[in-house]
Amino acid sequence: MRQLTYFIACSIDGFIGDPNGDASSMFGFAAEEYLEFLKAEYPETIPAQGRAALGLQDAANKHFDTLIQGRVSYQLALDIGVTSPYGQLREYVASRTLEKSPDPNVELISDDLVGRVRALKAEDSGLGIYLCGGSQLAGELMGEIDELVIKTYPQVYGAGMPMFGADFAVTDFTLDWVRTFDSGVLVRKYTRKR
Ligand SMILES: NC(=O)c1ccc[n+]([C@@H]2O[C@H](COP(=O)([O-])OP(=O)(O)OC[C@H]3O[C@@H](n4cnc5c(N)ncnc54)[C@H](OP(=O)(O)O)[C@@H]3O)[C@@H](O)[C@H]2O)c1
Repeated sequence: MRQLTYFIACSIDGFIGDPNGDASSMFGFAAEEYLEFLKAEYPETIPAQGRAALGLQDAANKHFDTLIQGRVSYQLALDIGVTSPYGQLREYVASRTLEKSPDPNVELISDDLVGRVRALKAEDSGLGIYLCGGSQLAGELMGEIDELVIKTYPQVYGAGMPMFGADFAVTDFTLDWVRTFDSGVLVRKYTRKR
């Protein structure tokens, strides 16, 4: 089985965005050594617009070959005219409202979300699946998440969109590694205890 990894940016207090999901206050930290880390270790998580600007068009995928995100997260790309924000990956978008995929690289998942993700996890591949968010999708897929890569930015939100839109339940993880950056950004990788 390959891994489903929730790779996500959050505030110190665990919010992935403001109450509407807007995470733009975190963007300013994507600079210097932290940006070099992302470029070197997780180039496939940088969306199309950023890849071009950073000269990553031809960068090989390091961890993931497939991405899944919720339609509300995908909508942010659609709203700026980008139909395939992660063209370097096979893209899946969960949606019950989109009737037709806006892009040949994007496949819609409209029913049996968990079953479809289990089928993707069962595929034979050396690379994993990038769960890109948002909160609702991560909450629905909590039971399938194998790894977390949490990029914590040195900001407190006080309130906002939680990492998981889910009911209370304790799930244990093992800490694999931590990277700290002078900017105050912290990246932690966890593996779920099964
Ligand atoms: N900080 C970060 O790193 C980060 C990363 C990603 C996203 N975000 C933020 O997260 C926010 C969006 O999160 P969100 O929780 O509001 O929405 P979301 O999880 O991105 O998308 C929710 C949508 O996914 C579809 N969906 C969910 N469950 C489904 C199922 N079982 N079957 C089929 N479709 C399903 C539905 O789309 P339909 O309505 O079309 O049916 C639903 O409205 C954005 O504002 C974004 O900025 C932050």
